[in-house]
Amino acid sequence: MKKMFIPFSVPYIDKEEIDSVVDTLKSGWLTTGPKTRQFEADFASYIGCRHAVAVSSCTAALHLAMDAIGAGRGDIILTTPMTFAATAEVIEYMGARPVFVDIDPGTLNMSPERLEDTLKKMTPEELERVKAVIPVHMAGQPCDMDAITGIAEKYGLKVVEDAAHTMPARYKGRMIGSISPITCFSFYPTKCITSAEGGMLTTDDDKYAERMRIMSLHGISKGAWNRYSKEGSWYYEVLQPGFKYNLPDVLSAIGISQLRRSESLLDMRMRHAEVYSHAFRDMPGIELPEVSSDVEHSWHLYIIKLNLEMLSIDRGRFIEELRSRGVFASVHFIPLHLHPYYREKYGYGPSDFPMAESQYRRMLSLPFYPKMTDEELDYVIETVREVLERNYVKQAAAADGSRSTGGRVAA
Ligand SMILES: Cc1ncc(COP(=O)(O)O)c(C=O)c1O
Repeated sequence: MKKMFIPFSVPYIDKEEIDSVVDTLKSGWLTTGPKTRQFEADFASYIGCRHAVAVSSCTAALHLAMDAIGAGRGDIILTTPMTFAATAEVIEYMGARPVFVDIDPGTLNMSPERLEDTLKKMTPEELERVKAVIPVHMAGQPCDMDAITGIAEKYGLKVVEDAAHTMPARYKGRMIGSISPITCFSFYPTKCITSAEGGMLTTDDDKYAERMRIMSLHGISKGAWNRYSKEGSWYYEVLQPGFKYNLPDVLSAIGISQLRRSESLLDMRMRHAEVYSHAFRDMPGIELPEVSSDVEHSWHLYIIKLNLEMLSIDRGRFIEELRSRGVFASVHFIPLHLHPYYREKYGYGPSDFPMAESQYRRMLSLPFYPKMTDEELDYVIETVREVLERNYVKQAAAADGSRSTGGRVAA
């Protein structure tokens, strides 16, 4: 096999995005203005929600969501350890405390059973302070939103969805972004759609929308477009000490084009997922991504799990062996409670979230992006096969193909 270099992710940028950025640059209006307003309107109509507020990142969106629900000092916000730093750091920004809830080992999403257990174990004083739950749709697969919403209602909690990995995704036919009081999206370059950097908040709640919009731009009553455009006026008022989280028009121009092709990008990723899953089905040593039957997955990431008991190497070494052959894999995520900040501040230890930890040790995300060619997919598949075959410990165990998909549908 001739050596190839397969990066982990490549954004899909076409003539349409390039032309639209050039038009915006020539228009004389670079920062937040008509293109961002159009991106918001297009996004809201695509999701089927009343409001979409464009911001500079999903981290900004999560922070504004925490502010909008009134999270404050001493509050508790529940989330998953299987996520990126951003989900929990915004809780810290508010002076609140993130409390982690272990995951379902199959889907890697927050386990509703563990959520209820965590709440049941809290003292009445702690329960008083629990304000919200932030489920994360890992890899693009929606969480069990009926169960999570039911528990949130029972305990009087707000739900803020971290939908950084979805676009588009559906839960029981409902668009992610239209279910909870607030949902946060990411347009970072590796995500399902990109605006280079960017994020979006969706909500049906007029008050949340107004607060998030104002706080996204210094807490002032009007954006620059309202002040400097022909229709605008110079006068504005500072209503709150807000943030500088607006999304510029140059980036919204990319986002508008990407949103238009979000379904065709999804089709490409779905096809790649099928190619991978078909090939890996016959490779003992690998567990395929598990997909619940009531969701439409965004396929942001393609995560395989190694059956480590069949291999003579660990996951880290497996990634190194892929890399030495030109295949760049990654890991999503190192569970947050294992990081020094959370370990030292809250005293979390290695066995606190056994499911997150056991899955973390075996997970890796393969190169996965819409423009992957058949040749590139084949190269990744054959490289994975080669690394597996060189490192099986038990050929007998390998031969019986003891893969588990937890009884649910694999892609
Ligand atoms: C689950 C999750 N939440 C939030 C974020 C933050 O997104 P952004 O880079 O747009 O701030 C990421 C980014 O990787 C993520 O994976």
